[in-house]
Amino acid sequence: GKVAVLMGGSSAEREVSLMSGEAVLGALRHAGVDAHAFDPAERDLCELKREGFGRAFIVLHGRGGEDGTVQGMLEMLGVPYTGSGVMASAIAMDKWRTKMIWAACGLPTPRYALLEQDTDWAAVAAELGLPIFVKPVHEGSSMGATKVTRAEDLQAAWELASRFDNLVIAEEFITGAELTAPFLGDQALPLIRIEAPGGNYDYQNKYFSDDTVYHCPSGLSEDQELGLRDLALRSAKVLGCRGWGRADLMLTQDGKAYLLELNTAPGMTSHSLVPMAARVAGLDFEALCLKILEDARL
Ligand code: DAL
Ligand code: MG
Repeated sequence: GKVAVLMGGSSAEREVSLMSGEAVLGALRHAGVDAHAFDPAERDLCELKREGFGRAFIVLHGRGGEDGTVQGMLEMLGVPYTGSGVMASAIAMDKWRTKMIWAACGLPTPRYALLEQDTDWAAVAAELGLPIFVKPVHEGSSMGATKVTRAEDLQAAWELASRFDNLVIAEEFITGAELTAPFLGDQALPLIRIEAPGGNYDYQNKYFSDDTVYHCPSGLSEDQELGLRDLALRSAKVLGCRGWGRADLMLTQDGKAYLLELNTAPGMTSHSLVPMAARVAGLDFEALCLKILEDARL
C-alpha cells in the first residue's frame, strides 16, 4: 500500500528533516515502494487516513515529530509507523529525564544540573567543573548548545539555549572520543567514532563540513566495541525504544563510557551516521530504509 514519508515539520531541525526525508523517499521509490512525501507543517495528519496511506515512515526530527506527538496521532488514526512509540519518543526527546532514567538504572551519563534564571552560576561551575556543555533539553543537531569554558559565560549560554526551550541543562564536559551507536531492531550496528574539526561536532560540522572524519569500523578494541554496543542497546531498552535509533556517547582515555542522548528518529542525510554504520554492516541505504519500514507497527 501507500507509504507516507513524514518529513519537514516545524521544529528547529526542519531543514535537516527535509534532507533526511528526500533521501528516504528516493530510496523507497527506487525500491518500488509507493512512497509519498508528507510534510506535517503544511498538511493535516488526518488526511493520511482519507488518502489511503497504509503506513508512515517517520523522518521528523525534534519536537512535533520525534517527540511522541505525531506517534500519538498515528496511534489514534490507526496508521502503523516506524520507530519508537509514544512514550519512548517523548522521553528520549527530553535529555534531562532521559539522563535521570539512565542514572536510576545504573547506566553512565555525565553529571548535570538544570539551569534557571536564578541559578548560582559559580556554584554550577564549581560542581560540574569547566568546561561545561549548556543545551536546550528538547533540541537536536546541537541547536542552541554552547561549550562554556569560563563560569562568567554560563549565563549567556543559558540565555541562548532559552531561546530554543524553556528547559536548559548544563552537563559536565567529557573529554575523549565522540562515538555514536546506531541500532536496528534489537541489533546494534557498528559504532562510529567521530573526529570533528577542533573537536567541535556542531551543526555545520554535522551536516556540511567535509573535514569531519568518521571512523567506521571505530578502531576500538573488540572488547570495547562490543561493550559499548551492548551499553547502547541497554540505554534504548530502558527508555522503551523500538525499531531503530542512535545513542550518542563519549569514551574517555581510560575507557570510561558516558551516554549523552538517544535519538529516536536520527538523521538520514547523506552525511548521517545510521546509514554509514548500516553500510559497514552490509546494508546499503535502500536496504536500510526497507528494513526500518518493514518494522512499522502500532
Ligand atoms: N537530531 C539529528 C537529526 C540526529 O540525531 O541525527
Ligand atoms: Mg540528538
